[in-house]
Amino acid sequence: PTPTPTPSYGISFAPVAANMNDTVTVPTGYTVDILLKAGDSIETGTAYAGSYPTPADAEKWAGGNHDGMEYFELSGTNPNSGGLLAINFEYPDFNILMGGSYNAATATADQKALALSAVGIGVVEIAKASDGKWSVKSGSKYNKRYTGNSSYKATGPASGLLSGTIKGMLNNCSSGRTPWGTYLTCEESTDNYLDPTQPEENYGWVVEIDPYQELDVPTKRTALGRFDHENVAHMVDANSRVAFYMGHDGTPGCVYKFVCDRAFSSSNRAANRDMLDHGTLYVARFNADGTGEWRALTHGQNGLTVGASDPGNTSQSATPIAPTTVDFNNQADVMVNCISAARVAGGTVMDRPEWITVAPDNSAIFVTLTNNSSRRSVDAANPRTVNRHGHIVKFKETGNSPLAMTFTWEIFLLAGDPSLAGFGDKLEGNINGDTFSSPDGIRIDPQGRLWVQTDHSVPGNSGDSSRTIEQVFGQNAMFYIDQTTKKSMRFLVGPEGCEITGIAYTPDLTNFFINIQHPTGNWPVSGQEPRSSTIVVRRTDAKPVGA
Ligand code: FEO
Ligand code: CA
Ligand code: CA
Ligand code: CA
Repeated sequence: PTPTPTPSYGISFAPVAANMNDTVTVPTGYTVDILLKAGDSIETGTAYAGSYPTPADAEKWAGGNHDGMEYFELSGTNPNSGGLLAINFEYPDFNILMGGSYNAATATADQKALALSAVGIGVVEIAKASDGKWSVKSGSKYNKRYTGNSSYKATGPASGLLSGTIKGMLNNCSSGRTPWGTYLTCEESTDNYLDPTQPEENYGWVVEIDPYQELDVPTKRTALGRFDHENVAHMVDANSRVAFYMGHDGTPGCVYKFVCDRAFSSSNRAANRDMLDHGTLYVARFNADGTGEWRALTHGQNGLTVGASDPGNTSQSATPIAPTTVDFNNQADVMVNCISAARVAGGTVMDRPEWITVAPDNSAIFVTLTNNSSRRSVDAANPRTVNRHGHIVKFKETGNSPLAMTFTWEIFLLAGDPSLAGFGDKLEGNINGDTFSSPDGIRIDPQGRLWVQTDHSVPGNSGDSSRTIEQVFGQNAMFYIDQTTKKSMRFLVGPEGCEITGIAYTPDLTNFFINIQHPTGNWPVSGQEPRSSTIVVRRTDAKPVGA
């Protein structure tokens, strides 16, 4: 396993209070800078300045609804003062693209092109100035958009079922990276609502993109399965074997891992270009006794044959799927209909798995189960009916190995608030300290510190009909949680209407990059339309964030 980083520092910030202010609130001694707003230039061209763009202009802008993000080092550059940031754009910020509301079924060609320009990803080279402020290096050869209008290829078992050249990637929700320095961006939609002229099968994949533009063109890796992907987190062992952990943000959805067939090369990047085409996809089964197992989603195994019995999900979903028979003729069928295959194979359907994170020493994996108010029947890993506020599950691979076929697990915490006791559904949860609802982003940083970001819906139902979800928890926020005491400390509160998502940092942890998604007030620029944005959080004394 990767050596455990010496915890040279812990946590010492003074938590901030829950609030409903239209600003980003951080602890005393911290600063917030805006790095990249929806509509700012990525590729050279005009930026948003208050009027609607042409499709050609928007294709070069930062897209909308910034979400998952990764920071990449550049050879020859001090990584603590310069590097590449790859950022997901989940959904358009329509308010800066066009008037009125967008309807994919009736949109004009220009409106469709505009909408599709604002999803996908952007890569930007960023640098820190002597005053500590970061900015995008305009004109950098690395600055590049990959949008809903760009072309993609597909590889792996289901690639024959997809169009030869695929138009677009969509709903780029969260993301991850490979140990060989590529970006993995995840499509959180299996139905192409933005462009109904395109075949559905083309979407719902993990897409591998090389931010350095050295390896392949952006590639949809079908061996990782087709579902509403959230993020990807990897675990590497001492022999360079690697597993990629993924959540299906479905109501309900399963937890998966993909294990590559061979070790990756740390000396030859190009040797890794087909790593994600050769391996086995597994689904997690969480047993009631705290043990768990990985079941292969391989044609011919675990019931994945013609005439397979899919048990459905009738008591856990707002859009129930009744028990049915499904024909899996080959591995392509298993990958395309992965959601059903996971249930056939005995995977546990969970309360909307969002992000997954792996501890630096491989000793723990955390997954956020954001909420599922439609759950009517419980199991050990999803213990609340009408799960409004979500929970976090911690699991541990046998031998801390990415190749393990078994694991142990526990409920790490149940989100909620003590003031909700008495309103039923165990809404009070068991958070020790600053409370929250709907954990979504989660990441353990290289110092082993656990950060959680929330996405409770606005307006949302707290479970107490006299108070909205924001009146109980404040606006969406980011928390530090001690893994031993489980004490939760609120680190940051977002502006009106937003969700907090995306977390990346420089190696010295003095700069945290965080995304503010879909603000609705007067942020980030007073007097202008609200815009999703990437921010940088630093300390005024330039020490590591949180320490
Ligand atoms: Fe786009 Fe599941 O969050
Ligand atoms: Ca999310
Ligand atoms: Ca969410
Ligand atoms: Ca979102």
